[in-house]
Amino acid sequence: MAKKLNIGMIGYGFMGRTHSNAYRRVTNFFDVPYEPVLKTICGLEADEAKAFAGQWGYESSCTDWRQVVDDKNIDVVEICTPNFTHAEIAIAAAKAGKTIICEKPLAMNGEQAKTMVDAVEAAGVANFVSFNYRRVPAVTLVKQLIDEGRFGKIFHYRANFLQDWTISPDVPQGGMATWRLDIKSAGSGVTGDLLAHCIDTALWHNGPIGRVNAMTETFVKERMHAETGKKEAVGIDDACTFFCNFDNGSMGNFEATRYARGHKALYTFEINGEKASARWDLHDLHRLEWFDYGDEGRLRGWRSIHMTDHDGGHPYMDHWWVPGLQIGYEHTFVHQIADVLTGLGGGQHAQPDFRAALATQRVCDAVLASAAKGQWAEVVKD
Ligand SMILES: NC(=O)c1ccc[n+]([C@@H]2O[C@H](COP(=O)([O-])OP(=O)(O)OC[C@H]3O[C@@H](n4cnc5c(N)ncnc54)[C@H](O)[C@@H]3O)[C@@H](O)[C@H]2O)c1
Repeated sequence: MAKKLNIGMIGYGFMGRTHSNAYRRVTNFFDVPYEPVLKTICGLEADEAKAFAGQWGYESSCTDWRQVVDDKNIDVVEICTPNFTHAEIAIAAAKAGKTIICEKPLAMNGEQAKTMVDAVEAAGVANFVSFNYRRVPAVTLVKQLIDEGRFGKIFHYRANFLQDWTISPDVPQGGMATWRLDIKSAGSGVTGDLLAHCIDTALWHNGPIGRVNAMTETFVKERMHAETGKKEAVGIDDACTFFCNFDNGSMGNFEATRYARGHKALYTFEINGEKASARWDLHDLHRLEWFDYGDEGRLRGWRSIHMTDHDGGHPYMDHWWVPGLQIGYEHTFVHQIADVLTGLGGGQHAQPDFRAALATQRVCDAVLASAAKGQWAEVVKD
């Protein structure tokens, strides 16, 4: 029988739900070496935490994250709280010897992320960061195709992440609902929130980035702060565009914004190589667009692959339904928990870990530094 693994979840918001859902479903679909037990849910409001415990099947609830970290019965500490809280919780959890799963971005900046890496490595605890898009089957397949040399030399990597939810100047900043718009809680705007996803996937796919050249814009300069009730200057980047050089010689081109009217979460990437190209779109995540120059000339062209094949080996898909039936967003979290549990059971530890997420944080730092100075910035390599 699988060994029980006690989970302490900190944060019952958007990510608290996706991670809880993943734990509840993982053993139904994946043969993993542990049986997760939803032990404690922690969040700021006692009533809400209690209600969440009832709805999702947690044995208890609390409002102080230290209670979770100090609890001898907890094996895994899950950090699903706003960015400014990650470092303190993770460092305490590492000292307490817990396995840690932290939401992205790892930290407020690279310097803080480095202290978290030092803490988990000194404590020797397993650690993982929830860049869940790596585990969309199409995105995983692209990694496999790159590693097999199917693209040949890669010339271009371009990615966008477009939203439109902060266009109104009436959207406040700060507080529990809009902490993402407050620089003190978020660390940055779209760079840490959206581009961090694109950068993590790009580093995984295409290797390290050497230098970046960026511009950012803050379209709404002042917003009411939800905690003070007063208009305050906005410190985050509303939009960010950068280009970069990868160490392998390819060029990168990235854009994120919350001002692209009509787009809700349009994460797309396109990769152009010597032998092949691929493109992918989160709004149609079960498809991979693929062009192979090796195809017979008469039939050569872009093809749209429905990522549901079992025999063909589409990643993760043999765990779900029958060929032709697709999966969606929530499944990426099930996949990552399955991989983390498999790693903990003696397999290879799942990636990205804190060190890999530090590399993403360093690129974000370089992007923001470049935009502030109006010049190229080198990416710190740890
Ligand atoms: N992987 C992804 O695609 C993805 C998507 C959304 C958010 N995120 C990341 O997940 C994290 C959480 O974002 P969210 O959207 O779930 O936020 P949210 O606002 O929906 O939820 C935040 C939760 O944290 C709790 N919380 C806040 N401060 C706390 C504290 N000091 N102690 C205990 N609990 C506290 C709140 O009670 C709330 O339950 C952020 O780092 C965010 O960047 C990742």
